[in-house]
Amino acid sequence: MKGAAAMPTETATTVEPAFNVENIHVSDADLPTFTDMPFEDIEELHLDHPGASDVEYRTRRDYIAGLSRKFRETGVITDVEYTEEEQGIWRHVAARLEELHKKHASAFYLQAKQDLGISNYRIPQLTEMNRRLKELTNFRLAPIEGLVDTRAFLSWLSWRTMLSTQYIRHHSRPEYTPEPDIVHEAIGHIPMFTNTNFADYSQFIGHGARIATDQQIEELGRLYWYTVEFGLVEEKGEIKAYGAGLLSSFGELEHAFSDKVERRPFDLEQVINHDFTYSDMQPVLYVIPSYAELKEVTRNYISRFKG
Ligand SMILES: [Fe+2]
Repeated sequence: MKGAAAMPTETATTVEPAFNVENIHVSDADLPTFTDMPFEDIEELHLDHPGASDVEYRTRRDYIAGLSRKFRETGVITDVEYTEEEQGIWRHVAARLEELHKKHASAFYLQAKQDLGISNYRIPQLTEMNRRLKELTNFRLAPIEGLVDTRAFLSWLSWRTMLSTQYIRHHSRPEYTPEPDIVHEAIGHIPMFTNTNFADYSQFIGHGARIATDQQIEELGRLYWYTVEFGLVEEKGEIKAYGAGLLSSFGELEHAFSDKVERRPFDLEQVINHDFTYSDMQPVLYVIPSYAELKEVTRNYISRFKG
């Protein structure tokens, strides 16, 4: 939570709050039910998924997704008893990412990861990360079976809740996953929610998602994609990664800093009109000059939405 470039100090040291979220009260009673949540291809793995033709993998993935589904009925999170093979994938990826993070991750992320305190040796359970987040920012995680649509995912942020998968990627491609998995969530996204300012920022985006028109939700999805998922930031004259999709994939992270990627200065109009695909390596990324700038641009943008 230190350093001039880090988001949290901005609210800690200025009178004005980062975002006006006082009108959104968070309590369990406010949580909508999951029953009508739209899913994208939740029951099937795409053909380019490395585990698509591995029957054993698909069965295991479905079993863990079933535990997540149970949460939608009971509201109780079931811890997953991960196998040795699954723990092995985690250890392999977490160690490799830790090395790359030293070189490429933003200071903001490195601090957040330390604050979450997860281990490189064991897959963290959503329940234990929830205890930590409750202490720090009152954010929380809710298990989900797979990729949900943009409005559903973003809207839940307005209840200070992130939907999180629990299963892990296929062992044949540890550097890559075409869909969210526990590595992507716990290493890429979840650390950031230890930071009050980022948690508030996410909640504000969630609020925008709830009032957005269909076109605005697409645009907001792109803004989220090129920032929270794949964002780069300039820190002390160097470009660093803060996007979850980069920080949770050593393939993407190395690719992001290679000459195969065009790194453009962040421009809101360009970003909200720039279509993307989920499964390919990203050919274009956007560099924000600072978190304060991103916050301000996002605030102005969402204030255009009519509630
Ligand atoms: Fe993500």
